[in-house]
Order: sequence, then structure tokens, then C-alpha cells
Amino acid sequence: MNKARKLIIAGNWKMNKTVAEALDLVRLLKHELVNVKEVDLVVCPPFTALSEVSAAILDSNLRLGAQNMSEHNSGAYTGEICAGMLKEFSVRYVILGHSERRQYQKEKDALIAKKALAAHTSALKPLVCVGETLAEREEGKAEKVLETQVRGSLAGLTKDQMEETIVAYEPVWAIGTGKTATTEQAQEAHGFIRRLLAAMFDETVAKRVRIQYGGSVKPANARELMSQPDVDGALLGGASLDARSFADIVKNSI
Ligand code: PGA
Repeated sequence: MNKARKLIIAGNWKMNKTVAEALDLVRLLKHELVNVKEVDLVVCPPFTALSEVSAAILDSNLRLGAQNMSEHNSGAYTGEICAGMLKEFSVRYVILGHSERRQYQKEKDALIAKKALAAHTSALKPLVCVGETLAEREEGKAEKVLETQVRGSLAGLTKDQMEETIVAYEPVWAIGTGKTATTEQAQEAHGFIRRLLAAMFDETVAKRVRIQYGGSVKPANARELMSQPDVDGALLGGASLDARSFADIVKNSI
């Protein structure tokens, strides 16, 4: 597939996989995807598996991501993990503002923006998630919600930092539900986000930022989604827990 930007496909394992299971999965993934150079490949295990997965993928084309981090660099924040700790395991990417964290941990755009800045300060690439709920879409508010989230959670980034940031458009109604946005809905939202980035930063930045689609991506719908001009990859949940489906999504996207 001839794309304007290099595709990036990331697997968000969420709260799944013991260390042993994680190692099994990356062993299979390494084997399945050994020849893939056209796509940036990222696995995001839970914190508890980062160390061992990091060692297991050292000699591969898989890169490591985390699922969250603190906005602080150190200190009395019980239960939190900071960017410097992630760097110890050669983590390169960090998912921020996933809709599950927005929903269950009540994360707001301003906090996500602080985390994104902290990630860049430590040379981690944030993968910032945005997306509207079904009710918001049905009320015709999808673009308004996206605009608020994009402006709020990317506030304060420099142009250089924005170019190194990945935006994940994940309509909440498509996450884990089996309902995928149509290719038209996805392209429309991605195009809208890119125009917004041009207004917030500039055209050059907007052209360079990769915007992933997330929400029930499967081997069967990956090719059509990835063929959209403003869709630059995928953030996978359920499908990333199985080596075969992750690998098939990647292969169907090339
Ligand atoms: P899903 O999750 O692929 O299971 O819908 C996507 C996500 O939450 O990133």
C-alpha cells in the first residue's frame, strides 16, 4: 500500500497476559512478522511484563510501548510509574488518555497534556487517544468533542514534539464492541483531526503526524481502513492478544 506516512500498528494488551503468556505472544509475533519493514510495530504489555518483553524483543523489529505513565518525574505518588522508569526498559512509546482511563480514572485533557509533555521530555513518543461516545455521535457532537480533546490533550506541545506524537482516533462505541467505524466515518474523523492540527500547529506538522484508527480492528477490515488517505495505522486491543490476528492485520495493511 502506498502511504504518505509510515504506518504504525500498536497492540494495547490492556490488563491481560502474565509474564509467561506475554513471552509466548512475542515469540510468535517475532516469528510471524520477522520480515516486516514497512510498518512500525509496537507492543504495549502491562507494566509487569515490560522488563521481560523488552529483553525478548531486543533483536527484533518490534518496539515497546507502555499503556500509561505519570505526569510527574518522581516523588510521593503511590502506585504511579514515571517516564524515567519506563526508559529503563527501553520503552519508546506510551499510550496516553485511552478512553478506558478517561472513563474509569477520570483522566481529563489537561492531565493528558501534562503527561504528553512529560513523555517528550524523556524522549518517549506519546500515543494520544481521542474519540467520541455513541451518545455524542448521535447528538451530532462528534466533531465538537474531538476538537476539545485534540486541543486540550495536545496543548503546549511544540511543533517538533507534535510531529513525534501519534494521535489515535478511537470512537468509544467501537472499542471492544465488534462495531467498527465505517471507512467513511474513520476517514472523515481523521481528516477533521488533521485539519485541526494544521490550524493548531501548521500544515507541515499536520502532514507529518500519524493518526491511528482504533476500535474493533480485525484482519477482515484492516485493509479497507488502512487504505484511507488519513489513516496511518491502527491501535489494536482484543486483536493484539492473539499473534495470528495481530500478524494478519499487519500483513493485510501492507
Ligand atoms: P479493541 O480495542 O480493538 O478491542 O476494540 C481498541 C483499543 O482499546 O485500543
